[in-house]
This record gives sequence, structure tokens and C-alpha cells, in this order.
Amino acid sequence: MKSHPRIIYQNVRKLFGVSDMPYRFKRGEVMSVLEVIENAFLLTEGDTIIDVGPMSEMPDQYDQIIDLDGKCILPAWCDSHTHIVFAAPREKEFVYRIKGMTYEEIGAKGGGILNSARKLQGLSEDELFDSSSQRLEEVMSTGTGAIEIKSGYGLTLESELKMLRVIQRLKEKYPIPIKATFLGAHAFPTEYKQDHESYLKLIINEMLPAIEAENLADYCDVFCDSGYYSPEETDRILKAARKHGLKPKIHANQLAVSGGVQVGVSNDAISVDHLERITDVEIDILRNSNTIPTALPSCSFFLNIPYAPARRMIDKGLGLAIATDFNPGSTPSGKMPFLISLACLKLKMLPEEAINAATINGACAMELEEKVGTISKGKLANFIITKEIPSLAYLPYAFGSDNIDQVILAGKKF
Ligand code: NIG
Ligand code: FE
Repeated sequence: MKSHPRIIYQNVRKLFGVSDMPYRFKRGEVMSVLEVIENAFLLTEGDTIIDVGPMSEMPDQYDQIIDLDGKCILPAWCDSHTHIVFAAPREKEFVYRIKGMTYEEIGAKGGGILNSARKLQGLSEDELFDSSSQRLEEVMSTGTGAIEIKSGYGLTLESELKMLRVIQRLKEKYPIPIKATFLGAHAFPTEYKQDHESYLKLIINEMLPAIEAENLADYCDVFCDSGYYSPEETDRILKAARKHGLKPKIHANQLAVSGGVQVGVSNDAISVDHLERITDVEIDILRNSNTIPTALPSCSFFLNIPYAPARRMIDKGLGLAIATDFNPGSTPSGKMPFLISLACLKLKMLPEEAINAATINGACAMELEEKVGTISKGKLANFIITKEIPSLAYLPYAFGSDNIDQVILAGKKF
């Protein structure tokens, strides 16, 4: 007796991202290769893809047939860097920036991350869970099928745990893979501004053990940048986190060439993210590492700061992931389709490169490449059915249009 129905999607005009990867993530020239089967079928059973191929090889054992009649399929997005658990939007700061203040000036005056932390500390876990659920559902409806979510708006033991417990509940409630990252080192709380050492001790001696005791996080992040955490402070935190089972994924080089890439790579970080400022020195270090550089172009768009030089990085052989960075301060949007357009327009990435960066390379940046990121037998049935589109390039070209017909997550229409 079969426990789950077999659903076959037939007459898929193009099935994109069909790949059983022999390597960890796509790098350099391989980034422009997006494998495709024309006139294809895709077979799912329950939450899993069990077969793909050309229509001429379509199996005849199934329970339900869905005719895509010329529509295309691509893997659901893998958003490897977000801060979607937050208490309140910060549109007042957006207006201050229109009037001429910079992101750094707002942060230094107690706005920014500290503003978000004050609001979050006053909210109950249930309230936070409800607003975060809404945000997660919003991004799932635009095709996000795996996501990383950070803490970092708590900045006290109690509130960091509150955020991570919310992420834990999101993991339990939703059918997509979610990775949790502890970002207690997001900013220095005001009372520790002149006493970094005491806050580092709080992170290392109290927060990390408590997080391990409840098994609340997969990764540890640090905002290693000018005015935030130095490379030395970052190194101490990452080494302590590793002892508690957390691998590094860090913020580096958003505001300055900060030494973040070096400290990330030397700690074998899964990814180093932002990279709006990067020199050939850091590019060489990344090329010789397993760390995935991750660009966040919607943050550059929103803050009017430079974009990561993705073209130069890929041309020099690097692999790149792109992620939304959805957060109330620098990127109040988690829409991956817009990110793909920005990657093409502002990072000068080809549509195929942008889609690889947002799917399989994003999956690798969450160590989820065995589960998601491509359309492959045995992976989760997480995919996007497009409306009728003339070509792949039409997706980033028609920015702002809704080109998604349906989102299928864990085998079910979302
Ligand atoms: O990735 N740069 C550090 N953290 C977030 C923004 C935090 C905020 O402004 O709330 C980011 O852009
Ligand atoms: Fe971020």
C-alpha cells in the first residue's frame, strides 16, 4: 500500500536546474551552466521528487496528473541569509536617510540594530512568532523553499533565546528546511559600548552554553565590520561557538574592508556575507577556500551603498550565493524574484548565474545541498511553476511582474 500519492507534472516546457552535483558549489564558469530538460515530466511522491526526464520517457504509474501545458519549472529559492524574526519595521530611519543621514550615523545614535533590540525585548515570544510566521509565509509565497534565519535583535541572554526559540517553532510549523543562526554579536548593547570584554564574556560564557543546552542554533554569526566587531573579537567568538557545535557564517566587509573575510576563512566559515567592499587579496583567499561568498544586493539597493563586485569575483573563479538579508533596517524585503533582477542588473550576473546563486549555491551556504537547490531524484519536491514565459531571461527582465504561477513546497501547493 502506498502512503503518499504520486503526482506527475507533464508537458513542462523547460525543467531548469536539473542537476546531481558532483561538486560542493558552482564556481566560476560553471555558474553560468543551468542544466535543463526540454519538454519534460517531473514525478513526486509525498514531499519528494522521485523521477524527472523527457516526456518520451514518462512513467505510467501515478495517481494524479497535472498538465503544465508549456509552463516552466525551476527549483525553489534558497535564501541563505535573513533576519526575518524582528519586532517592528524602521521606516522612520528610512526617512532620516532620505533626508541625508547615513546608516552608520543612525546606528551610532542608538537607532539601527539597538532600536530593533529595544523593541524586541518588549515583545512576548508568541507575538514575535506570529509576526515572523506572517513574514515567512509571505516569502514562501514568492518561491522561497529553504531559509536561514538569524537572531541578533535580542542582545541579552533572555531575548536572544527568545528569538532562537521562535526560529525553532518556525522550523516545527513549516514544511521547508530552516537553519538557525545565533547572532548575539550583531552590535554592542549601549551599556557595553565602552566595555566590549564584558559583552564578549556574556556571549561566550552564558549565551553559547544556553543555546547548546536547548540545541537552538546551527550556526554562529558576527557582524565583523567597522564600528561593530573587530576581527580579533570575531575570532574569539567563532572559536568559542565552534566548541558548542556552531559553525561560522559571518557578516563581513559591508561598511569597510574589515578583515572579516580573513577571519571567516581561517575559521572555516560556511559563508562570508555582504562583501560590498572586497579587494583582490580577499578574492584570492576565498578562491582557495571552501567558504561561499554571499552577496546581498537588495541591501546595497536599499542603503545606496556599493554592490559586491560579483562579476569580477565570478570571472576570477569564485562561486557566489545571493540572499535577501530580509531585515527591518537594511533590507525590508525578502522577495527573491526581485533579488534575481538586481543580481542581473547591478551585479552584472547572467540570468543562469543569478538563478544558480539563488538556488544551489544558496543551498550550499546552508549545507542543504543534499535536500534542496536543484531538481533531482530524492530531493524535496520544492519548486516554482512559472507562468508562460518566453525564456529564462524574461524572469529577471520583467522585474516587478509576478511571473510565478504556483509554488510547490514539500510536494504541496503553497
Ligand atoms: O545584514 N549589517 C548587519 N546586519 C543587518 C542589518 C541590521 C539592521 O540594520 O537591523 C544586515 O544588513
Ligand atoms: Fe544580515
